[in-house]
Amino acid sequence: MLNFDYHNPTHILFGKNRIAELDLLIEPGVKVLILYGGRSAKKHGTIAIVKAALGSRTTIEFSGIEPNPSYKTLIKAVEVVKTKNIDFLLAIGGGSVMDGTKFVALAANYEGEASDLLKPGFARKVQFNKVHPIGTIATLPATGSEMNPYGVISFNNAKYSFTHKASYPKFSILDPTLSFSLPKKQVANGVVDAFVHVIEQYVTYPVNSPFQDRTAEGLLKTLIEIGKKTIEQPNNYEARSSLMWCATNALNGLIGAGVPQDWSTHMIGHELTALFGIDHAQSLAIVLPSLWEVRKDKKRVKLLQYARRVWDIQMDDDKAINLAIQNTRNFFEDLGLKTQLSAYGIKREDISKVLNALKANGMTKLSESNDLTIEVSKKILEKAF
Ligand code: NZQ
Ligand code: ZN
Repeated sequence: MLNFDYHNPTHILFGKNRIAELDLLIEPGVKVLILYGGRSAKKHGTIAIVKAALGSRTTIEFSGIEPNPSYKTLIKAVEVVKTKNIDFLLAIGGGSVMDGTKFVALAANYEGEASDLLKPGFARKVQFNKVHPIGTIATLPATGSEMNPYGVISFNNAKYSFTHKASYPKFSILDPTLSFSLPKKQVANGVVDAFVHVIEQYVTYPVNSPFQDRTAEGLLKTLIEIGKKTIEQPNNYEARSSLMWCATNALNGLIGAGVPQDWSTHMIGHELTALFGIDHAQSLAIVLPSLWEVRKDKKRVKLLQYARRVWDIQMDDDKAINLAIQNTRNFFEDLGLKTQLSAYGIKREDISKVLNALKANGMTKLSESNDLTIEVSKKILEKAF
């Protein structure tokens, strides 16, 4: 096992009817900015319940944080935080709203140009005198943003990740019933995003980490078990609870501690989203199976372990690996996510745009071994047709 630091300060409140507890979580007299997306939080009544729970505290709403949240929108929220003397930021929504809120909290306390915070590796080193505390009410189980310090922001037609130790939410309310209103497509996206988060921390190379491996396998098996069910039965509380808690644990640091990680599928996927507007999870469903087809020799030991333990395949090694890749592709397709670029209207001649974007963003040495070069990305994208 590799050395690691692990510190996750987010308080999780899981279950039905927990929003009333905001009154205990946020100090009296605190001025709260409530941030949310387009319509869902208001339409389904969550904003009203939140405001009732906050009682006499002054609240201001900031709506319109879009999927793949844009810098331009978030800068407007930064202005509100500064001019209205906001004390606390409360995000209500999916990954986009939670990530956007994390960015607003940092940017509102950063002296320089806020876009600096999106430069690779920059934000994590900034010494802030203070960062506004944030809380979240997660309405879409997918990204794990509710219990991690990461955010992804769209800026100038590209997606940029940032992190800072102050970006962990102080608390996150996870009420599975709040996700019942999700369209089927978003639930399917959530299953695939969580699945690929686990994979990026598990299918690398072995370092004697049986706890992390068994936990990752448990998450993957659970997602396979409940994926279809929770899409087809939106009001099935138990299935949705499992999805929510799996999604949170897929990216809260637990399974990634002490093991190598490979975020190549995400990095290539982010370029597909930025260039062609493909949903985040759809981009992952396209890239992962093709990446494995190209990299199966490098990942042989862990892919075989994945085949044996997650899919219970008992064939010869090579056959088992191939079948596990095929099963993964079928799993995504079965949930409704297409795994070929052509299914999203992308043409072979578009590959060069993706490669140029990867180059421009410094994504030239990806993977757990830093050897996934532009040439390898090209092979992966060609395989995805
Ligand atoms: O805007 P509204 O009207 O709220 O609609 C949203 C949005 O259109 C809707 N929605 C959310 N909760 C709902 C609901 N509709 C009905 N009922 C509800 N309860 O869902 C749509 C998509 O929301 P979004 O937040 O964009 O989805 P998701 O949670 O998948 O987040 C994706 C973003 O997270 C980033 C992605 O890059 C992308 O920008 N990621 C963040 C990560 C992190 N912070 O650790 C890691 C991930 O890998 C990912 O990169
Ligand atoms: Zn993701």
